[in-house]
Amino acid sequence: MHKGSCLCGKVKYEYRGEIGEVSMCHCKPCRSPDPCRWLRFGCWAARGYWLRSEDPTTIENNDMARKTLGSVFLAAALCHASAALALPDGEGRETVEAVCAACHGVNLIERSSGYSRDDWEYLTSTMIDLSGDAARQDEILDYLAEHFPPSDNRAATPADGPLRLQIEEWKVPTLGQRSRDPVEAPDGSIWWVGQWLDILGRLDPETSEMQEFDLPSGARPHSVNIGPDGAAWYTGNRNATMGRFDPDSGEISEYPMPEEAARDPHTAEFAADGTLWFSLQQSNMIGRLDPQTGEVQVVPSPRERSRPYGLKVAEDGTVWVSCNGANCLLRVDPETMEVSEIPLPEAGTTVRRLDIDADGIIWWVNSGLGRLGRYDPDTGDIQEWDSPSGPDSHPYAIAVFDGAVWYNESGVRPDMLVRFDPQTEDFQSWPIPSGPVYAGILRHMRTTLDGEALLIHQSGTNHIARVSVEDNGAAEAAE
Ligand code: HEC
Repeated sequence: MHKGSCLCGKVKYEYRGEIGEVSMCHCKPCRSPDPCRWLRFGCWAARGYWLRSEDPTTIENNDMARKTLGSVFLAAALCHASAALALPDGEGRETVEAVCAACHGVNLIERSSGYSRDDWEYLTSTMIDLSGDAARQDEILDYLAEHFPPSDNRAATPADGPLRLQIEEWKVPTLGQRSRDPVEAPDGSIWWVGQWLDILGRLDPETSEMQEFDLPSGARPHSVNIGPDGAAWYTGNRNATMGRFDPDSGEISEYPMPEEAARDPHTAEFAADGTLWFSLQQSNMIGRLDPQTGEVQVVPSPRERSRPYGLKVAEDGTVWVSCNGANCLLRVDPETMEVSEIPLPEAGTTVRRLDIDADGIIWWVNSGLGRLGRYDPDTGDIQEWDSPSGPDSHPYAIAVFDGAVWYNESGVRPDMLVRFDPQTEDFQSWPIPSGPVYAGILRHMRTTLDGEALLIHQSGTNHIARVSVEDNGAAEAAE
């Protein structure tokens, strides 16, 4: 009988039998209700491993822990099926499955573009610290390098052009947090959220100093905005709250959703009048929070399963939302909250995000069909352009920046940052780096407050970055 606990001690375990592979456990994931990260633990459960708690408040009386236990048993039931979908045979396979599936499915490894051993070492080091056990690390890296060498699986089609970019990168401290959605505060600091580990982070780009703050366990923050009050407002995607973090006091206030059907605040944006608007993807709703009174209101989308996703507020106060589950955009009247649907032409169209240019034109990514779209709210005109990497390029984040429309092609590797010039209709694209490797997905981007730079991130590799266009790029290329 082997006994142990997760790092924070909240969840204890006992294991009967031989320990064949080393298990890993992180404090917060242990308390997470997400079944996928428990799949491996589920398999161990089937082999005589179970969770128990010596502190009754942690399991019996704690909903999260109860759900976790439920997930373990569910995963145990699925164990056989999941084994059939496992990685190719070879020495080290079981270790890779045990260690790497703690946070995500091994399908991310199979779908990757493959890497050299050195690049696998760097890539995995942004997710988990394997350096404490050199033999195990070698086993994992040897396996990955042998079975998943670099390939042109999902290769991008770059679009050449004259502009040059300058990209500054920062790697955030806590590994595997799925850092995302960087946003600038008026004092120049850059905030982000670590979605999988309930983290709110703050970076001083001048000194590269970073601080991380714990959000309520299970909040799974999806995005963050800086309010007119200087506070960091995040969306609690898994605990059905909007949250406010006061940078001066460190105090957190939570604003629960007004009804049970409103489960997953997703992307938010402040209107000029201080109202905080937000989308609720799976709940198929749009919400608003009045920071003065704390009142939260939600309304349903008129289109079934439209999955409201990206959200922006136009200069006239109209709220625009993209549909990640259907071919539509949604327009919300800021007074009445009445939502109207703008159908987009083709079936198969799904729209992760949108942005609005200075003329009020709505630019949107056609993620489902691999295109960039334009909608003119005055004339109703809709136009689309094929993205350079084609139908499977899955355009995702989008921002109007430097007189052009920028978005990324998340379905290809490298994940490409694309610039579209609305005047010339030319595309240019660049691979988005994460240190020495190209991996991960950009999921949301915004400009700095002065409009001089674009803040991006790579959720897989724990990086956030600031992109600016080199002044002399065009001039040099023209010479
Ligand atoms: C502590 C959590 C954690 C662990 C453990 C972990 N990863 Fe990840 N990994 C992530 C996150 C977060 C992402 C990004 C997922 C996303 O953006 O949806 C990711 C993404 C990936 C990707 C996709 C990269 C791309 O091209 O987009 C690969 C490949 C990957 N992980 C490999 C591994 C391997 C191999 C291991 C085991 C050595 C591992 N991961 C362990 C957190 C983790």
